Formats: sequence, structure tokens, C-alpha cells
Amino acid sequence: MIVSRLVHICTLVVSLVVGLDVLDYVDPLIGTANGGHVFPGATLPFGMAKAVADTTRDNQGGFASDSSKVTGFSHVHDSGTGGAASLGNFPLFPQDCPELTKCAWESSKRASNWTNATARPGYFGIELDNGIRAEMTVTNHTALYRFEFANSTNPLILVDLIDLPISRSKGFAAVDSSTGRMTGNGTFSPSFGIGHYNLYFCADFQGAEIHGTGAWQKENASTIKSNISVAGEGSGGVFVRFKKPATDSRTVITARVGISFISIQKACHYGEEEQPGFDLKETVGAAEMAWRAKLGVVSVNTAGASDGLLKSFWSGLYRAMISPQDYTGENPLWDSDEPYYDSFYCIWDSYRAAHPLLTLVDPLSQSRMIRSLVDIYRNEDYLPDCRMSLCKGYTQGGSNADVLMTEAYLKRIPDIDWDTAFEAVVKDAEVEPANWDVEGRGGLNSWKTLGYIPKNNNDTLGTGLKTRSVSRTVEYAYNDFCIAILAKALGHDSDHKKYRQRASNWQNLYNSNQTSSIGNVKTNFTGFLQPRLANGAWAYQDPILCSPLLDFTGCYLTDTGHETYEGSAWMYTFYVPQDMAALIKTLGGSKEFVSRLDFLHESGLLYMGDEQAFLPVYQYHYAGRPALSARRAHSYIPSQFNTSVSGIPGNDDSGAMGSFLVLSMIGLWPIHGQDVYLINPPFFKEVSIRNGITGKLATIRNVNFDASYRNIFIQSVRRDGAKWTKNWIGHDFFLEGGILEIILGERESTWGSKHEDFPPSMSL
Ligand SMILES: *[C@@H]1O[C@H](CO)[C@@H](O)[C@H](O)[C@H]1NC(C)=O
Ligand SMILES: *[C@@H]1O[C@H](CO)[C@@H](O)[C@H](O)[C@H]1NC(C)=O
Ligand SMILES: *[C@@H]1O[C@H](CO)[C@@H](O)[C@H](O)[C@H]1NC(C)=O
Ligand SMILES: *[C@@H]1O[C@H](CO)[C@@H](O)[C@H](O)[C@H]1NC(C)=O
Ligand SMILES: *[C@@H]1O[C@H](CO)[C@@H](O)[C@H](O)[C@H]1NC(C)=O
Ligand SMILES: *[C@@H]1O[C@H](CO)[C@@H](O)[C@H](O)[C@H]1NC(C)=O
Ligand SMILES: *[C@@H]1O[C@H](CO)[C@@H](O)[C@H](O)[C@H]1NC(C)=O
Ligand SMILES: *[C@@H]1O[C@H](CO)[C@@H](O)[C@H](O)[C@H]1NC(C)=O
Ligand SMILES: *[C@@H]1O[C@H](CO)[C@@H](O)[C@H](O)[C@H]1NC(C)=O
Ligand SMILES: *[C@@H]1O[C@H](CO)[C@@H](O)[C@H](O)[C@H]1NC(C)=O
Ligand SMILES: *[C@@H]1O[C@H](CO)[C@@H](O)[C@H](O)[C@H]1NC(C)=O
Repeated sequence: MIVSRLVHICTLVVSLVVGLDVLDYVDPLIGTANGGHVFPGATLPFGMAKAVADTTRDNQGGFASDSSKVTGFSHVHDSGTGGAASLGNFPLFPQDCPELTKCAWESSKRASNWTNATARPGYFGIELDNGIRAEMTVTNHTALYRFEFANSTNPLILVDLIDLPISRSKGFAAVDSSTGRMTGNGTFSPSFGIGHYNLYFCADFQGAEIHGTGAWQKENASTIKSNISVAGEGSGGVFVRFKKPATDSRTVITARVGISFISIQKACHYGEEEQPGFDLKETVGAAEMAWRAKLGVVSVNTAGASDGLLKSFWSGLYRAMISPQDYTGENPLWDSDEPYYDSFYCIWDSYRAAHPLLTLVDPLSQSRMIRSLVDIYRNEDYLPDCRMSLCKGYTQGGSNADVLMTEAYLKRIPDIDWDTAFEAVVKDAEVEPANWDVEGRGGLNSWKTLGYIPKNNNDTLGTGLKTRSVSRTVEYAYNDFCIAILAKALGHDSDHKKYRQRASNWQNLYNSNQTSSIGNVKTNFTGFLQPRLANGAWAYQDPILCSPLLDFTGCYLTDTGHETYEGSAWMYTFYVPQDMAALIKTLGGSKEFVSRLDFLHESGLLYMGDEQAFLPVYQYHYAGRPALSARRAHSYIPSQFNTSVSGIPGNDDSGAMGSFLVLSMIGLWPIHGQDVYLINPPFFKEVSIRNGITGKLATIRNVNFDASYRNIFIQSVRRDGAKWTKNWIGHDFFLEGGILEIILGERESTWGSKHEDFPPSMSL
């Protein structure tokens, strides 16, 4: 057990402007259409219970604004996932039906059109066409629903033992005929991984007398039975019928649902402990307080900024703190005093912006998450690259938890067992797992001997998808760079040398003669990453393949045969965050590099809805052209990130898109895995962040701020009054606090254009 030495500070709740509530600027419905897959329901920050109305179609996050029917109300969800729908187990469904044969049971039969969905932090409300208005909120482990039956004679509430992906293998539910308490369990599969998990629930009701109870399956129901076992696919569960109150045409029934991954007893206990009063209003109030405290570490001078940008900003920050979920005390897999977080969904997405943002705004939660990752390594032998529902998720590229470890070290995240963390990242780099589709890396023999993953890799150490040799090579190279940095910091000098060398392996797949055409038109650029065979001969993949311009979706995980993952070789050629100086040299110098980066953004080759697109927005800094990074950021915000329900360009992936937005608008872009923030002007006159460890306040202030964004070019910078010429800054700014003043003008200046002011590169 690690003894906490955290400095506890009072959380300062900063309101935007006197009289305004920051929660008014959070719209949880942003990103609930058009593939954003955002969870818009009620949740506490990183909470396990997540209540929402589940819809048909595109229901990865439970509710989708562009789907017309609600099938139930369920208690746990994931947010923004790209794979299958996730969780959504044991939905309740209320209806009014005079006889059991008139009730609708199965999900396809009971599905009801909806109107008037309302979402706020800690609250979700909706009206169903079946005459029921539903409102809901949560504590950490319980969901609370208030169902108002408009003019009901025979209110009935059923529970269905299904989940959203229809993954259940076995399930059981029982109902107590005197109290109406429903309890049950089920065995389900994770939405983007292997194995299975058990979940338990306990539902209690208040508001009307029990009229009867029973069990149902498919479309038949019986009041004689008080329990039911289901196996395989298909609906089934138990139900409670209520008496109509004598005095009122309305019936209001409150349902409290405790959930647990351990047992029914624990699920019931959570209900009794966390939600003794069935009090919706009070519980919403408590959730709002929790959110205000989390969001309150950031404050914004709103002068001139549009409501739309403010909403985008606060909603993005809110989404970044929905997941990963704190399941501490709810892990049945091993005994440990360490925190247990789940739904790292996936680190491949979240290491680029989401975790760097949490490091800034909630370093204590980041510490608990890193401890949880190290504890997963202790107990499951590898760090995860993706994890959900207590199961191992699929690896998409490198072992990117390595990047998180190094960044946490450099940014002084407290209370981590660094020796074990180092052991874990070295294991990723050295020991191939039996199934590298769910942890570690594949092709390690080739990696160590050839210095790249060959297209025709002959892997005798483990099994896994034999694809993505190019994107895995560049990610493994960056992972090894991060391991080298951690090795150096911890005094492991020979390891430092070894991994530093491997960090240059991206060069082994750079084919300097490769050209690229779009249709019949040759682009003006030569030299791209290309696949290579084990014997050293070059193979070929069209550099634009799997960009929006050619077979866009051809490089998804389940497709076979291609050498890049969810993106083109054109784009992956830019992925050398460890040594941008060497990359720029390789690509023909600064001028060539800038024109190539412009082409990436302007030709339609880049899809902003996937996380690899984030870094190229800001890579102009490495060519001494920070002005172009600022201009590029404004070209995507708000045109591709806005406040509509389809206001994010791709899956939010546990808040990754929201994190890109927030970090871009704060103005300091973190290079994941490094102690480097690239300096850009904030989108607001001023932004401040109070550090959760030191309590110090860091303020980034625009001078000559212009809300129409003509003055977005940095003329000069002052840190605490002194001239600051580097176009980047370290995390000490946030730990120590201070003021970074950014003097703006209408034209690009020479600020940040000298070599000595460039961000660090390995070869410099
Ligand atoms: C439900 O909504 C769909 C789509 O808007 C519509 O076609 C259908 O008629 C509606 N059903 C009912 C019963 O109102
Ligand atoms: C929609 O919901 C809001 C909040 O619950 C409520 O104030 C409003 O009256 C509802 N509107 C309609 C048309 O039902
Ligand atoms: C919910 O859990 C978090 C830890 O993730 C904890 O800080 C918070 O106090 C809990 N909330 C309540 C109301 O217990
Ligand atoms: C309530 O339902 C009853 C029976 O279906 C019906 O006669 C009555 O008109 C309804 N009242 C309202 C206000 O909808
Ligand atoms: C679910 O409950 C039933 C009945 O008590 C029991 O037989 C079954 O083993 C339980 N399943 C799990 C996964 O706990
Ligand atoms: C529904 O009907 C099936 C087959 O007729 C029967 O096996 C099952 O027990 C029934 N379920 C309930 C809940 O009555
Ligand atoms: C299910 O109900 C039957 C009676 O209908 C009872 O005999 C049995 O013990 C119950 N099973 C469980 C696991 O509660
Ligand atoms: C793969 O490697 C093993 C062990 O070195 C060797 O026996 C086998 O022939 C190789 N297969 C191919 C297709 O190269
Ligand atoms: C590129 O072409 C030149 C001239 O044909 C050749 O010498 C060189 O080896 C080639 N480079 C690569 C990486 O294939
Ligand atoms: C290549 O460069 C030439 C000369 O600058 C220019 O005219 C042409 O449009 C460029 N081609 C493409 C595809 O951008
Ligand atoms: C809002 O963002 C979406 C998703 O990127 C985009 O399709 C849409 O055009 C944007 N809307 C506006 C008005 O900019």
C-alpha cells in the first residue's frame, strides 16, 4: 500500500461571472448524433453509475439524439466508444397496461417514441409517447429514476436482463412480492475486448402500493412466478404492477437501482447507503456540487467570447471527466488497496489529449488512474492499451500506457510506484505476450533484430492480427523513446541508451523514393513511410489509402491486410513526436515540411474525427512557424467542433474530442509523453487553472485579445513579466503558477522562429 502524501487543498469554485453558473455552459447532448456516441445521461465525475434513456440504433453511449425510440432506462454506460454498444445492462421500462397481455414486453415491442430530452450535469429527463415522463440522477453506485405516469390506471415497471450489445449468456432475476424489490445478475461480454463479466442489480420502488409481481419472457408473463433464469439471447425478467393512487390522476413512482460487479448484497447496500431518501432533487443537487467542484479549477475571462465557444469549452471539459470510471471496491478480480479504474477506452485514443488534460485539471484523479494501471500490470502481467467492463480490450497500435507513465513522471504526478511502473513498460518492450491483440506488442523479435515490423512478420512468440506494420512501427518507436526518458530519470543508464536507439526505428520504414498521387494528379511530395519485408525489400501501400480520399474505412481493426491503422501512410509519416527535427530534415527542411503539413490539412487527407489528427494541427511549431498552428486550430474550431448534437467530428472516445477542444482553447498544447506545451493564444481573453497538487494558479492571458480572431498571431510572450522567447513551456508553469502574457497581433511575427526556441527534439 502506498501512503498518501498528497497536499489537500480546498477546492475553489470559481464562477465565470457573478451570477452565472458554469453548469449552464455544459450541454451533455453535444456529440449524441452523427457518430459522436457521447453518453449524455446523469453521472458523477468518473462515476460508475451512469443513467440514461437507451435508444435503438447508434446507442454506443445509451442515448442517441438521432434515434427515434427508447427501449429502456439503464444504469451503467461508457461514453464515446467507437466499437459496439457498451453496457446498458438491466434496463427498466415503465408502462401503463390494464392487463398483462396488453403490456409490451420485449425491447422491440415496448420501444416508444420520445420528445423533449433534457440533459444537465447530474440530470437527464425525457418524455415517452406512452405517456410517461422520466427523470433521472445518480450517486456513485446507484441510479435514481422518477417515472411520472400521466393518467395511468395500471402502472407497471419491468426489468429486462439484457444489455445494449445483446451479449448476455446467462441471467437471473427475482422479485419480492411484498416489497417489490427486484434483484438479479447476468454474465455479459465486453464491447471491445475478450472474456466476460458479471454484473448485479437491486431495484427498490417508492410512490405507490404494490398491486402484483411476476416474471416474463419473450411476450408471455406470469404472476405466479417470482423469478426467472434466462440463457442465450432474448428478453426476460421480472415486473411489478402498482396500484393507482386514489387521489391523483398522476402516479409518480421512484425507482432506485444499486449496481455492483461483486454481488446483489452489495448492490442493495449501495442503494440503502447512498440513496436512503429516494430524493431526486437532493441527489441532483449533490451531483451538481460535485461537477462545479471539478470544473471550478478552471476559470475563464469571458470578455467578448461567444456563447457557442464557451459552451463547447465547458462541455468538452465536462466530457473529459465522465470516464475512466472509478470502480474502486468493485473489482472482483484481485484483492488490492490500490484504486481500480475501468473503461480506459482506449488508451490509444486517450494518451494524446485526454490524460494530458486530466493531468492539468485533476492531477489527483490522474494519480489514481496511473496507480490503477500499475496495479493492473501487477495482477494481469501487462499494462492495458484498452480495458472495459473488467476485461482486456483490443490493442490498436503501440503499448501507449508507456507514454502515460513517462508523462506522469515528468509532470510529477504523486504517489506512483515508479519501480513497478518501469518494470511494466520494459515488459511491454521486451516480452511478447501470448495474445498481443489485447496487451503488449507483437513482432518483438523483428523489432529487436530488424528495427521494424515487417509486413510479412513471422511471429513465433505470440499470436495477434498481422496487420498495421507501419503504424505499429512508429508507435513502438515513440513508446521506446518514452521508456528511454523514464529509464534516464530513474538512473537506468544502459536502458536509456538501448531505448533511445530504438526510438529512431521509424527511419527504417521511410522510403525516400515513394511518390504519391491523388487520382491521376501527382502530389508534389516524395518520401513516405512504407511497409517493408523481413528481407529488407520494400513493399507498397498507396500513401493515401485509408484517408478520406481513398477507402477511408479500409484500415479498421477488423479489416485485414493493411499496414496502417485508421489512417494513411501520408498521415503516419508525421508521427515522430520524439524527433521532429530529424523528421523535418528527412522531409527536405522547414519550408518543404510546412508545405507538406499544409497539404495534409488542406487536401482532404486528414480526418479530424480520429485522435491521430490532433498533433499535426500544432506541428508547425517545430518548423518555427507557431503562427500557422494558431491559424490551423481556428480553422477546425468551431467549424468541426461546435454545440450541435452532431458537433464533434468523430467518436468522442471517453472525452478525447472534448479534450482536444479544451486544450486548443486554453492555448497550451501538450506533447503527450513529454514535459512540453506548445504556446498558442487561448481562445479567450484569459484562462486560469488552479493546480490540484500545489494549489498554485497559472494564468494564460492574451494582450490585444480580439474575439473575432484576427489577432491570433503571437508577437511576443512574457512569463511573470520577463521576456519568453521559446515557443513552448514546461509543466513547472502549472505547478508553480504564474502569468503567461501573450501579446497578439494581426500578422505572423518572428517570435518562436529561432532554432534555439524550438521545442525539444531527440537529435538536437
Ligand atoms: C415514431 O417516430 C417515427 C419516426 O419519427 C415515426 O415514423 C413513427 O410514426 C412514430 N410512431 C408513433 C407511434 O408515433
Ligand atoms: C420539457 O422538459 C422541461 C424540463 O423537464 C420542462 O420544463 C418542459 O415543460 C418540457 N416541455 C414540454 C413541451 O413538455
Ligand atoms: C464518489 O466517488 C468519488 C471517487 O471517485 C469520491 O471522491 C466521491 O466523494 C464519491 N461521492 C460520494 C457522494 O460519495
Ligand atoms: C384518463 O384516462 C381515462 C381512461 O382511459 C380517460 O377516460 C380520461 O379521459 C383520461 N383523462 C385525461 C385527462 O387524459
Ligand atoms: C445469479 O443468481 C443465480 C440465482 O441465485 C445463481 O444461480 C447464479 O449463479 C448467479 N450468477 C452469478 C453470475 O452470480
Ligand atoms: C413463457 O412461455 C414459455 C414457453 O411457453 C415457458 O417455457 C416459460 O416458462 C414462460 N415464461 C413465463 C415467464 O411465464
Ligand atoms: C425461484 O422460484 C421458485 C418458486 O417459483 C423457488 O422454488 C426457487 O427457489 C426460486 N429460485 C431462486 C434462485 O430464488
Ligand atoms: C517462421 O519461423 C520459424 C522458426 O524460426 C520457422 O521454422 C518457419 O519456417 C518460419 N516460417 C516462415 C513462413 O518463414
Ligand atoms: C531511391 O532511388 C535511388 C536511385 O534509384 C536508389 O539509389 C536508392 O537506393 C533508392 N532509395 C530507396 C530507399 O529505395
Ligand atoms: C505542385 O507544385 C506546382 C508548382 O508550385 C503547383 O503548380 C502545383 O499545383 C502543385 N501540385 C499540387 C498537386 O499541389
Ligand atoms: C459542427 O460540427 C460538425 C461536426 O464536425 C460539422 O459537421 C458541422 O458542419 C459543424 N456545424 C457548423 C455550423 O459549423
